[in-house]
Amino acid sequence: MKNEELYALLRRRGVLWPSAEIYGGTQGLYDYGPLGFALKRRVEEAWAAWFVGLSHDYHLIEPAEILPEAVVRASGHLENFTDPEVTCESCHSVFRAETVLEKVRPEGVDGLTPAQIGEILSSNHVKCPTCASLALSVPRPFNLMFGLDWGVTGKERAYLRPETAQGSYLSFSRMWDVGRRALPLGIAVIGKAYRNEIAPRQVLFRMRAFTQAELQIFFDPAGFSVPFDRVRDELLPVLRVDRRERGEEAPELVRAGDLVASGGLPEFYVYHLVHTVRFFRDVLGYPADRIRLFEKSDKERAFYNRIQFDVEVRLESLSGYKELGAVHYRGDYDLSRHSQGSGKDLSVHPTGREPLLPHVLELTFGVDRNIWGLSDLHLGTEGERTLWKLPSYLAPVAVGVFPLIAKEHAPYALALADELAALGIPAQYDAGSSIGKRYARMDEAGTPFCLTVDGETLAEGPTKDTVTLRFRDTRTQERVARTDLAARILPALRPPRPART
Ligand code: GAP
Repeated sequence: MKNEELYALLRRRGVLWPSAEIYGGTQGLYDYGPLGFALKRRVEEAWAAWFVGLSHDYHLIEPAEILPEAVVRASGHLENFTDPEVTCESCHSVFRAETVLEKVRPEGVDGLTPAQIGEILSSNHVKCPTCASLALSVPRPFNLMFGLDWGVTGKERAYLRPETAQGSYLSFSRMWDVGRRALPLGIAVIGKAYRNEIAPRQVLFRMRAFTQAELQIFFDPAGFSVPFDRVRDELLPVLRVDRRERGEEAPELVRAGDLVASGGLPEFYVYHLVHTVRFFRDVLGYPADRIRLFEKSDKERAFYNRIQFDVEVRLESLSGYKELGAVHYRGDYDLSRHSQGSGKDLSVHPTGREPLLPHVLELTFGVDRNIWGLSDLHLGTEGERTLWKLPSYLAPVAVGVFPLIAKEHAPYALALADELAALGIPAQYDAGSSIGKRYARMDEAGTPFCLTVDGETLAEGPTKDTVTLRFRDTRTQERVARTDLAARILPALRPPRPART
């Protein structure tokens, strides 16, 4: 589906809509309705089951969303967290440099200096998108953080966190003390990040407030042992810098073992690339041939990274590959900067070892961008019907419960819906309109199972207390005893977990 068509469908179904819509919307902010909220929760749960599930020593925490200035100064965000912005000196409109250069330089402007970007603008005669003049300025760095006047005097400075990761670094020493005092130690955060994006656009893709799910794995730089043999033969769809420089865009399938043996990447890094690709492919259900691991060069990488592969997925609605997550090897950047900034030595003393400053491997995931990805890749039409083929454990509503004839079967169906909800099965009762329309509504919402209570359910005889169970994808139906329903449905609602390391 095209972007607008998909967005219209998501709005119509109450998955999401612009924030403060009655005032014309707020750029870069969206509200999730009942289906969107539930889907987002399930995606977050599936992410946690998979990534936090990688080890017994990985934990979720909830740090504060507001950071004092000293923190963002130490982290480098005050100085480096910028996006080049250009101003039209004729009409004074302001744009992201990357956006105005989209057609002449689709690979983006990461790693270019303002002067180089200015040169590309003028040599390509790029015009102002608003007034078509050629008076676009040389770009200047625009800091993307939202600053706050903090405290009663309003004179202190604080910032909305630009990435959830910072809370994990700030909590590291406390987590070391309250935990097993062993490495690797994983600290995960799922929550809002805030960026004053110059040009919010493409709905959930470039927002000003969005949800990240990020796992920071702190490990001993002398060795991060992983069961690499288990993944050695897995094929990964990579687009490395050398091939990008030759103008290639399609990923090539490379054995994980070869990325280590001849590709110069560490085992621990490739091992986590494999688990990340598996998450997108096996948990979110994205087609393997739409995923690529896009290596960023020295100049393009985020300022804190030593190795960076973005997970990109080809989306029809956004006309190409889009970054939906990434694997970042941040080295000791964060803990050494926060050691200096706070004056507290963040090195640790594992039993029987010299003190050491852990390194960080970050697995980052944009929740909202993946809500869009799940819509783009799984929501579509099949013949006459609109169908959201979400994996069952991600479906906002797991079971639709219908009385065939409201007047006769409603009390039984309502009691059944309550019974399932009490068992932890998200069930929605629907008695409105024809049974066909009710199925259609559930198909569009991605509901994998529908139960219909009918005359046979209530009549004395062999079918008493049985209902029809209808499957979304095949539309096949079975008659199932009420007492067997939970056992049939619950296993499909558990998100996959990785084998523990
Ligand atoms: N802690 C590392 C970090 O924040 P990032 O590449 O800036 O790295 C991580 O962001 C993920 O957050 C991205 O892969 C993307 O999925 C999501 N993300 C970043 N900016 C976003 C925005 N403006 N709107 C929606 N999602 C965004």
